[in-house]
Amino acid sequence: MKKNFWQKLKKPILALAPMAGVTDSAFRRVCRESGADVVYTEMVSADGLYHDSKKTLELLDFDKAEQPVVVQLFGKTPEKFTKAAKICEEAGFAGIDINFGCPAKKVAGHGGGVTLMRDLTKCQEIIGAVLAGTKLPVSVKLRTSIKKGDKIVTAIDFIRFMKDLPISAVMVHGRPYEDPFNAEIDYAMIAKVKKEFKAGPVLGNGGIKTPEDGKKMMKEAGVDGLGLARGLYGKPWLFGQMKKYLKTGKYESISDKELKKLILNHAKWALKSKGDYGLVELRKHLCWYVAGRAGATQLRAKLVRVETLGDIKLALKELF
Ligand SMILES: Cc1cc2nc3c(=O)[nH]c(=O)nc-3n(C[C@H](O)[C@H](O)[C@H](O)COP(=O)(O)O)c2cc1C
Repeated sequence: MKKNFWQKLKKPILALAPMAGVTDSAFRRVCRESGADVVYTEMVSADGLYHDSKKTLELLDFDKAEQPVVVQLFGKTPEKFTKAAKICEEAGFAGIDINFGCPAKKVAGHGGGVTLMRDLTKCQEIIGAVLAGTKLPVSVKLRTSIKKGDKIVTAIDFIRFMKDLPISAVMVHGRPYEDPFNAEIDYAMIAKVKKEFKAGPVLGNGGIKTPEDGKKMMKEAGVDGLGLARGLYGKPWLFGQMKKYLKTGKYESISDKELKKLILNHAKWALKSKGDYGLVELRKHLCWYVAGRAGATQLRAKLVRVETLGDIKLALKELF
């Protein structure tokens, strides 16, 4: 049987995890240049695609230099996912991921994201609906657990329930819904998923801010790769450091020259993908890039106002 792209990636697989408001086209390209093996889009509404929403369709724009790109869908109505999956396949993505992990009110509050894990039959219908609309590999992103009355539904319950579905990859965020972003990482649950799921790679996610954190996840959970998220804020070169550290036990810091080039590339790609508004969205990244450096506080005041590439170059002159 023909291999899907997940099976062709070299392990350990380093992935840019999906982050709404962060993992747009320009940042995904920066991450690929910095060593990511695969990048996820921000979550995209299956309902929005179903209803041909212009704003939602815009989230599907990407540059082929970002490939392999996995588009992540969220929603709660199985029927809408089939058309959404078709649209994603036509847009040229390498794979489709389904969000079963988001705790945000606007998603989970309406019965989507992580709260779907309380209804595994519904999850199965959603995955089935995506599979009905595409031949692309379909992956899922889960949390370790969510409470359901006085019981707990875990990632392992999910994986067992879906055992007859051709899921291609799994990313597990090692925290429960009830403490969504700060809980200690549950390596044991991720390790159980890795043991149970045989059809493709299992990626461990959560709390990876340094190459050492990544090594710990690899060791404790025995996963095939890592999903990096907030650890990349202002540090997309964590991918390159991680790759080197997992191979050799060593890594280097980025030089000022490399950092400047990276920031200017990021700005160029932001402009290319979203026009001037791309630079408005870039401002938070600029602040993350300079955080912790001498003079960062004064520089931030300028960076949050940049409107042109010239403004960025001028502001950076104060640093480099
Ligand atoms: C700003 C932000 C947006 C996020 N958006 C998504 C999303 O669209 N889809 C998703 O599955 N997870 C989303 N996440 C969760 C991350 O993918 C990741 O699972 C989580 O941040 C844990 O990893 P970390 O501790 O390395 O940050 C988001 C997280 C953050 C901080």
